[in-house]
Amino acid sequence: MSHNVVRTGDATTGVEGSDAMQDEVWVLGATGRTGRAIAARLTAMGVPPVLVGRDATRLQEAATGAGGGARTIVAGSVASMIAEVRRRRPAVVVNTVGPFADTAGPIARACLPGSHYVDLANDVLAASALLGLHEEAVAAGRILVTGTGFGVLATESVVAKLCQGRPVPDRVRVDAVPSVATEAGVLGEALAATIIGGLPAGGRRYERGRLVRTRLGSDVAHLTLPDGARVTTASVPFGELIAAQRASGAPFVVAASSLAPTAPAVRAILPLATLLLSITPLRTFAQHRLARLRTTPQERPREHSWGHAHVRWADGTTREGWLRTGDGMDFTSAVAAEVAHRLLKGEGRPGAHTPGALFGPELAEAVGGEFMLDEGRESSDRGEETHYSVSQNYLAVP
Ligand SMILES: NC(=O)c1ccc[n+]([C@@H]2O[C@H](COP(=O)([O-])OP(=O)(O)OC[C@H]3O[C@@H](n4cnc5c(N)ncnc54)[C@H](OP(=O)(O)O)[C@@H]3O)[C@@H](O)[C@H]2O)c1
Repeated sequence: MSHNVVRTGDATTGVEGSDAMQDEVWVLGATGRTGRAIAARLTAMGVPPVLVGRDATRLQEAATGAGGGARTIVAGSVASMIAEVRRRRPAVVVNTVGPFADTAGPIARACLPGSHYVDLANDVLAASALLGLHEEAVAAGRILVTGTGFGVLATESVVAKLCQGRPVPDRVRVDAVPSVATEAGVLGEALAATIIGGLPAGGRRYERGRLVRTRLGSDVAHLTLPDGARVTTASVPFGELIAAQRASGAPFVVAASSLAPTAPAVRAILPLATLLLSITPLRTFAQHRLARLRTTPQERPREHSWGHAHVRWADGTTREGWLRTGDGMDFTSAVAAEVAHRLLKGEGRPGAHTPGALFGPELAEAVGGEFMLDEGRESSDRGEETHYSVSQNYLAVP
């Protein structure tokens, strides 16, 4: 297999010409975990992507792993990637380079004249900033999609399902319970910066329609999953908070995750830790240490990943539902590849969106998710046993 390698920016010399590449999907950060998986899925869908990354050797490995003759572009920095996007205007850009609070805005703006944009952001700041580009995207006739992964779609799709055809609810709580296999390697800069970088900002939730600051790890809940397993979740400032509020319109919204620190000892030191991490040199040091953390291969801890939503209306009616998927990382790469493919085919409407808002909750089913929804109750007691029915249309693929 031969790969057409283009070196650019601070890597080596650029390529002349500025022809728009209106049949190409570019994956930025294609040497990373999600980048490689998205590339492989796109190739399997008959859309061999162009892989963009900063290391030529690892890019070649990624291209070989993706199969199907993927082309590679070596760009030594995010700035070089942006310059290449501006110059060559691919049809769709999939951005997997975190932290998205830093990269999403500049890359999305570079896309606006000529490319659709997809990212995996799942933090409140990055998601809000990207969604804030809505009017610019409409004016440019382009589509920007943020939160294209388990984080956001797994919970927003359940909220959308539960609220379909109903009035605006009063309160919504979403819980993300991902189960992910670990591969051997290091945690990596993107993930480390995403984890550490978000801590000083503290927690968030909606109260009376306003996004307010709250203590990270508050709103602890003990959930019994539909398969009987028990997990503990607590609030986190994830992008799914924004998505759940937009999907429901509810004035009171909490977003929680099983990834949040819930052990009492950890929660006790969190305020001090977040204060210390607001000091830039300490944060940078912690990020570098975490990025080098070696991970060992591990099976995913539970067979399924779960997205959960609990919705309450002012009259006391409540509904509860789940989205069941397999490995959370597999779901993420499937969502990103599916959304990129749909944008390439001309589906969607201009503007900045979350994936479920753009393609409906059925998008989650199209990539293998299965809804389990209750039928609605008059009580808001979360301790009651709930009966779930598997949605009849879960096999429908749009
Ligand atoms: N929404 C969701 O559900 C969801 C799910 C999974 C992941 N994510 C997010 O997606 C992001 C990627 O995750 P991942 O697991 O794929 O991370 P990863 O394995 O560390 O990959 C990150 C990629 O970005 C590149 N990169 C990092 N910093 C860069 C820089 N300064 N300039 C150029 N390239 C840079 C890396 O290049 P090198 O290989 O050269 O280091 C790598 O290709 C993370 O922020 C993560 O939080 C979201």
